[in-house]
Amino acid sequence: MVKDILFVSFESLPFIKTGGLADVVYALPKAIDNKKFKVKIVLPLLKKIKDKYIYDLKPAGHIYINTHYIHEEANILSYTNEGIEYLFIENDTFFYRDGVYGYDDDAARFSFFNLAIIEMMFNLNYFPDIIHCHDYHSGVLAALCKLRFNNVPQINKIKHIYTIHNLAFQGIYDKNVLFDLLGFSYLDYANGSLRYNNDTNFMKIALEFSDVITTVSNTYAQEIKTKEYGEGLDSLLRGRSNDLCGVINGIDTLSFNPKNDSNLITNYDLRNFVSGKKKCKKDLQQTLGLNINPDIFVLGIVSRLTNQKGIDLILKELKHILQMDIQLVVLGTGESIYENSFKEMEYNHKGKAVYYCGYNEALAHKIYAGIDMLLMPSQFEPCGISQLISQRYGTLPLVRETGGLKDTVNPFNKYEKTGDGFSFNHYSSYNFKQVLDIAYNLYYQDTQTWRKLIKNAMKKDVSFSSSARDYENIYNWVLNR
Ligand code: GLC
Repeated sequence: MVKDILFVSFESLPFIKTGGLADVVYALPKAIDNKKFKVKIVLPLLKKIKDKYIYDLKPAGHIYINTHYIHEEANILSYTNEGIEYLFIENDTFFYRDGVYGYDDDAARFSFFNLAIIEMMFNLNYFPDIIHCHDYHSGVLAALCKLRFNNVPQINKIKHIYTIHNLAFQGIYDKNVLFDLLGFSYLDYANGSLRYNNDTNFMKIALEFSDVITTVSNTYAQEIKTKEYGEGLDSLLRGRSNDLCGVINGIDTLSFNPKNDSNLITNYDLRNFVSGKKKCKKDLQQTLGLNINPDIFVLGIVSRLTNQKGIDLILKELKHILQMDIQLVVLGTGESIYENSFKEMEYNHKGKAVYYCGYNEALAHKIYAGIDMLLMPSQFEPCGISQLISQRYGTLPLVRETGGLKDTVNPFNKYEKTGDGFSFNHYSSYNFKQVLDIAYNLYYQDTQTWRKLIKNAMKKDVSFSSSARDYENIYNWVLNR
């Protein structure tokens, strides 16, 4: 019998994206075997989505949410995209805003979202076999089911899977959120199960109440059990290590395919990547106002500009980098200190270095194809998506060996001439610079080996297909437990 799975996320492509979460929630359901599992996805109807899709969304239900502080109605709307049904919670008070996160009333917005999903199940008479939540925004759903609705048999039998995409964002709020907004009893706070110091913490509650916890790479699953990476939740994660596992992300290999990517000036594959990438490089240089030179070593960064991503290592070495015979392309937004440094870099090095402050999907594709090496020396990285995309486009990633970067990049071995990227271990700009120099020399001095590494990268399966099988096994396992 086909099992019903409800994905819960605050963002997903093709509708809205602030980070890799949106890529995964979009790509994974398509890779799951729909003869065994029928996946639906529930999302808040954020302004950007509503404005664009309002005429295509079909009414599916209507709900009321009542707690001490929340008295709101919502519509349930449905939309099917690429064979997957998306359910949207429409409530303009909480969701009709320009941004996605970062509002003063986020605690209320996320609480409302979790409560609305429970009401939605009743309203649609849809009780999935498994609820699969992604990141802290839906962190209290399992606890609501198990503590507040456990007397409803259809809810009580639901299994809960929770995927950590980034442990650094937890949703920590005042403890009264639990009572006033979510309607939990004080007893469940007092006995510790909902408590985090003297606060509420959505991520912690999810880790406590979900039946299975997954995260997006094996290495990260190990790292978060240590104090260094555990963000204050390592002891809880160690306690749950029997229920915790890592499943590496893939990418949507249909949207990311140099062979038919319409954003590129020319398409290429394993047979003609040398000429293809050169043309793409020229086109990128032209687009961004860089000096035209198809042979120069072009480095790129496509990233949120935050300290997670190791931007400070790059900035420490920027002077050195800009003395080399290279060009540098940066795309992304983030902390203003990083944005300003890259603006200054562009100003002082016109034609050689460029910074695009913003996000632009079409340009991102051009960059993945047109550069030679992607810089991603993250301090920590649950999985990382850019390194996978760049490999698919024949661009070698330079990464730090952490989390998913460690699991997806086979570092260049100069003796065996193997690998599909470059990496270093200890988080220091010195180590970063050392491996950058190795790559630089290889690019200019041993074209044959460089091309061999490109082939290795392009041949690699970076799709979701094998990880989707892992998720299916987890679903079966939790259902039979
Ligand atoms: C978060 C993580 C990133 C991961 C993505 C999708 O954005 O920072 O490493 O790839 O989620 O799981």
